[in-house]
Amino acid sequence: MLYLIAKLIHIFSVLIYGGFLFTDNLILMRMQKTLSTQKYAEVRSYFKEFTKVLVPKALILVVLSGIYLFYVNFGEISADGLSNFQVLLILKAFLASWLGLRGVLQVFFNIQPLIFKSHKLPFILVIFIVILSQVMWHV
Ligand code: HEM
Repeated sequence: MLYLIAKLIHIFSVLIYGGFLFTDNLILMRMQKTLSTQKYAEVRSYFKEFTKVLVPKALILVVLSGIYLFYVNFGEISADGLSNFQVLLILKAFLASWLGLRGVLQVFFNIQPLIFKSHKLPFILVIFIVILSQVMWHV
């Protein structure tokens, strides 16, 4: 039951965070091409204001629920070393935790990232992480 709850929290938080990145990259960025600079800045500031209430918290939930899912799923390391599943899970957890840390530092501590300045790379990374989350079960 606890696992189910953690997994649902994980999926819904991913939905919120991923949805934010999709909206930003696929919809808002396009508005830039049609709106005036001033109008676009206004729209962006509204988007920022309303998303900052929810998105960083969702990102924290993604990481916390992810750590629990990781703990349950990782399993024993056999004498032959890490399985393919374990390697991909470590990669997924590392990339996702990096995204999480970056987001938390940026929003709560105002520390701007050295790399990954735009939302484009997190967006690509989230797609990659979601693919990893499925492929890891089949390798
Ligand atoms: C941006 C961050 C993240 C994204 C987009 C993401 C995405 C996903 C998705 C889409 C699933 C598949 C759920 C399903 O098939 O039902 C999943 C499962 C999983 N995630 Fe994440 N995740 C993120 C962060 C993390 C972190 C930080 C960890 C570990 C520290 C983690 C560990 C896991 C594990 C172990 C599963 C397998 C759970 C299962 O299928 O029962 N995730 N993740």
